[in-house]
Amino acid sequence: MAIFQYSHIIFITLCTIYFIFYFKRIIRNSPLAKVFRNMHRAHEKITQVLNERGGTYLLRGPWFFRIEILFTSDPANIQHIFSKRFSNYPKGTEFRNKFEILGDGIFSSDFEMWELQRRTILSLISHAKFHTSLERNVWEKIETGLIPVLDYFSGQGIVVDLQEIFQRFAFDNICQLVLEYDPGSLSAALPYIPCEKAFSVALQPLMYRHVLPERIWKLQKWLKIGNEKKLTESWKAFDDFLYPIISSKEKNNRLDVFTAFENAYENNNNNNVNFSGDLRKFLRDSLLGLLFAGRDTTSTCITWLFYLIATNPLSESKILDEIEREIIPVKNEWRFFNIEESKKLVYLHACLCESLRLFPPLALEYKSPIESDTLPSGHFVSRNSKVVISFYTVGRSESVWGKDCLEFKPERWITPRGGIKHEPSYKFPAFNVGPRTCLGKEMSFIQMKMVAATIVYRYRVRLVDGHLVVPRDSLMLHAKNGLKVRLFERNV
Ligand code: HEM
Repeated sequence: MAIFQYSHIIFITLCTIYFIFYFKRIIRNSPLAKVFRNMHRAHEKITQVLNERGGTYLLRGPWFFRIEILFTSDPANIQHIFSKRFSNYPKGTEFRNKFEILGDGIFSSDFEMWELQRRTILSLISHAKFHTSLERNVWEKIETGLIPVLDYFSGQGIVVDLQEIFQRFAFDNICQLVLEYDPGSLSAALPYIPCEKAFSVALQPLMYRHVLPERIWKLQKWLKIGNEKKLTESWKAFDDFLYPIISSKEKNNRLDVFTAFENAYENNNNNNVNFSGDLRKFLRDSLLGLLFAGRDTTSTCITWLFYLIATNPLSESKILDEIEREIIPVKNEWRFFNIEESKKLVYLHACLCESLRLFPPLALEYKSPIESDTLPSGHFVSRNSKVVISFYTVGRSESVWGKDCLEFKPERWITPRGGIKHEPSYKFPAFNVGPRTCLGKEMSFIQMKMVAATIVYRYRVRLVDGHLVVPRDSLMLHAKNGLKVRLFERNV
C-alpha cells in the first residue's frame, strides 16, 4: 500500500514537472508571449505585424487561456465594422466589464443607453451658449494658466514637460466647460491633483485588461496588486472628485449639463433603459465620460504636434507665417482670435491632421460581434470573439497613405484651392468611424489651434537633447517619457 502511495506520488510529481516545462515552452513560444514581451512598444509591434500580413492578423494564445484576438487595420474591415454592420459590433458586455470604471457613460454604453447619452451630449454641445463659453474658457485658461506657467519656465531656463502642461490645461478646461469649476491644476507649482493624474494612470491597466485573460486581471483586482491596484485607486480619485461637485452644484448652482442628464435619467427610468445605479451614479458616469473625452484626446494630439514641429523646423516657420498673415495684421500685435478666425489657420489645421494621422490619441478600438461575420478581408469572426482595430497602424500603412506615409507632410491635407482636403474616416479614423463618430471634433480643433498658435507665436520650442519621445503602452497614445523641451521667448 505504502509502495503504491510512494510510486503514485513520484508519478504525479514527474507529470507535474513535465507539464510545467511543457507549458513553459508553449507559453514562451506562443504569439501571445511575443505580444507581452513587446508590450512596452505594443503599437509599433502591432503595426509591424499588420503591415507584414496585409492588414489583418489572428492572434492565438495557448489553448488553456482560450485567447483569440483578430487584429485589423484594413480600411475595408474598419468601414464594415464601424459603419455597414454597426449594429453587429456593439461595445458589448465584455468591454463594459473591462471598462466598469466608466459605468453608464457614453464610452461603454450600447443601444438605448448610448443613444440617450449621445442625444443628451449633442443637445448640450450644439447650443450657441456652449460655443461662447468654449471660446471664453480657452482664452481665459491661456491667459491665466498657460502663458504665466510657460513664461516662468522659459524665464528660468528650466526644462518643461509639455505633455504634462497640455494635460493640465485640458483637464482644467474641460472641468470649466462641463462643471463650471476650475480645479487650477495648471499653475507654476504644478500641484498634485489626484483626479487629474488618475486619467493617465487608469489607461494603462485598461489596456492590459484587453490582452490578459479575464481570470488573471480579476485575481489581481481581488488581491489588490499590480495594475489593478492602480485602477482601483484611480476609481476612488474620480469618485472623490466628482461626487462632492455633484452635491455642491445640486444645492447651489444648477448647471445646464446636470439638468440635461437628469431629464434624460427621469424620462428613461422605468422605460427601456436599464441604469446600473441611481441618479447620482448616472450623473457621475456621464460627467466622467465627458472629462475622459476632453482631457486626454486634445492634450495627446497637441503633444505630438509639438514633437512633430520640433523635428520639422520648416513647418514651424510656416505656422508662424500663417499666424502673422491671418491673425496679427488686425491690430499689428498678438491678440486672441475667435472661432470664425481660427478657420483661417489652414496650415496649422493640416499640421494637426498630420499629428492625428501619425499619432491618433485613441490608438486602439475594441469590438465584439453579436453574430458571426465574415470581414471584407475574408477573415471569419465568430460570435463574441475579440476584434482589435489599430488606428495607429492605419496612418502608417503604405497601402493607405502611400510610400511617404511615415513622413510629416501637412501639405497632403491642403487642396489646390487652399482648403482642407476631406479624407474618409475609415482612412483617417482618429475621430472614430460611423455612428459613434466623436462629438467633440470641431471644438477640439478650435481649442488646439488657440493653444498651438499662442505657443508657436510666443516661443521657440526645442526638444531636450537625447530625450527619447516614444508612445506609451496605453490605450491613449501618451508620449512615454513626456515631451521635455526648453522654451525660448520670441520678441513678441
Ligand atoms: C483630438 C481630440 C479628439 C479625438 C482624437 C477624439 C477621438 C474620439 C474617438 C476615437 C472616439 C470614439 C471612442 C469610442 O469608440 O469609444 C470619440 C468619441 C467621443 N468623443 Fe472625441 N475625440 C477628441 C476630442 C473630444 C472632445 C474635446 C470631446 C468633448 C468633450 C469629445 C467627445 C466625444 C464623445 C462624447 C464621444 C462619444 C461618441 C459616441 O460614442 O457616440 N471628444 N472621440
